[in-house]
Amino acid sequence: MQFKNTLAFAQQLDNEDPLKNYREQFHFPKVDGKQVIYFTGNSLGLQPKRTKDFVNEVMEDWASLAVEGHFYSKKPWWDYHERLAAPLAKVVGAKTEEVSVMNTLTVNLHLLMVSFYRPTEKRFKIICEEKAFPSDQYLIQSQVRFHGLDADDAIVEVKKREGENHWRTEDIVAKINEVGDALALVIIGGVNYYTGQVFDMNKITKAGHDVGAFVGWDLAHGVGNIELKLNEWNVDFAAWCSYKYMNSGPGNASGIYVNEKHLNKTDIPRFEGWWGTRKETRFLMKPEFEPIETADAWHLSNPPVLSLAPYLASLTMFDEVGMPTLIEKRDKIVSYLEYILQEIDKEVDSTFEIITPRENRGCQLSVFLHGQGKSLFDYLMKNGVITDWREPNVIRLAPAPFYSSYEDMYQFGQLLKKGILENS
Ligand SMILES: Cc1ncc(COP(=O)(O)O)c(C=O)c1O
Repeated sequence: MQFKNTLAFAQQLDNEDPLKNYREQFHFPKVDGKQVIYFTGNSLGLQPKRTKDFVNEVMEDWASLAVEGHFYSKKPWWDYHERLAAPLAKVVGAKTEEVSVMNTLTVNLHLLMVSFYRPTEKRFKIICEEKAFPSDQYLIQSQVRFHGLDADDAIVEVKKREGENHWRTEDIVAKINEVGDALALVIIGGVNYYTGQVFDMNKITKAGHDVGAFVGWDLAHGVGNIELKLNEWNVDFAAWCSYKYMNSGPGNASGIYVNEKHLNKTDIPRFEGWWGTRKETRFLMKPEFEPIETADAWHLSNPPVLSLAPYLASLTMFDEVGMPTLIEKRDKIVSYLEYILQEIDKEVDSTFEIITPRENRGCQLSVFLHGQGKSLFDYLMKNGVITDWREPNVIRLAPAPFYSSYEDMYQFGQLLKKGILENS
């Protein structure tokens, strides 16, 4: 499609947008009384208007039923989490039984590493990407130390090539083959938080399995953003948060995926609690743990229903629309944003560099501001463009297909141009 950098063209795209009715179903913050242009759905998604009703329902049931709400509320609390599994499984390309929701992301990655990082004298190394999200670095280092190993010896980081902004799949596969039968686990962020690069999870998972390692993914930036086929790719495990593209609220509950081949096993190492044991016998209060046949076996505690309610609300929207429609708009709106950036770059003779690979990207464009720096970012924020800043000189722009408009992209371009001219 031949794009144009005009208001009329952007509005025409909005009129043709099959998701146009969803924008008004979200709350937008305002700056100086004007709705913001929101680019940080990759950090905290906007609140869907329907969320309040889901939370209120729990509050009202709690008020009127108290403890009886566990079994007699409109959506009984004791198995509230089970309602999330089927719609979430569609989002991540999994079977319903492979998916569950519990705790928060880093906690879940730790719990899953208990099961899938089982170092032996010979096979103890972990491959991850260099400069992984800090929480993942701490996760991996502390797991290695927990097993009495030396982090420098056990952790192998795959580096980008000199002068390049993203990882090459062939370099990751080569590293996997090089480490070979010393490799216990590959764990990588499926979409890089800094550059927005989408990794080839299928190829990397296969390469890990070929040398006998487990392969897991941190999908914080992947879920609700890109097409995932966790079951088809035969991924061992994955976890993600719900507050970015899943629009489920700050710090909210995390989803997990455990491949069906690891389910219903009594001999898998796992930290266990009473909500992971079979519900048919749970309240007999027996000392024996009988794992639920699904990923729920990894549950420790009874479900945090007030956290799950916003996640369920959001999943009703994903279920209505489906990932293919979201992905179609994502590709178009991100391409339009890229075009606007290029047009403004020409007009003001600036020097931005989009460091996100065009062939492997989702919602996010990370833009390196060679000439302009923090002052341009501050200008944008002051003028109602909510974006984020990453050292040394990168802004991340992530339009979310549910609620971003093409007009937002156009208006952003106009503000960007003004900001560059005023700040140079
Ligand atoms: C890639 C990635 N991994 C892990 C985390 C940590 O998530 P949490 O604080 O929910 O454990 C984040 C948070 O933004 C993230 O982006």
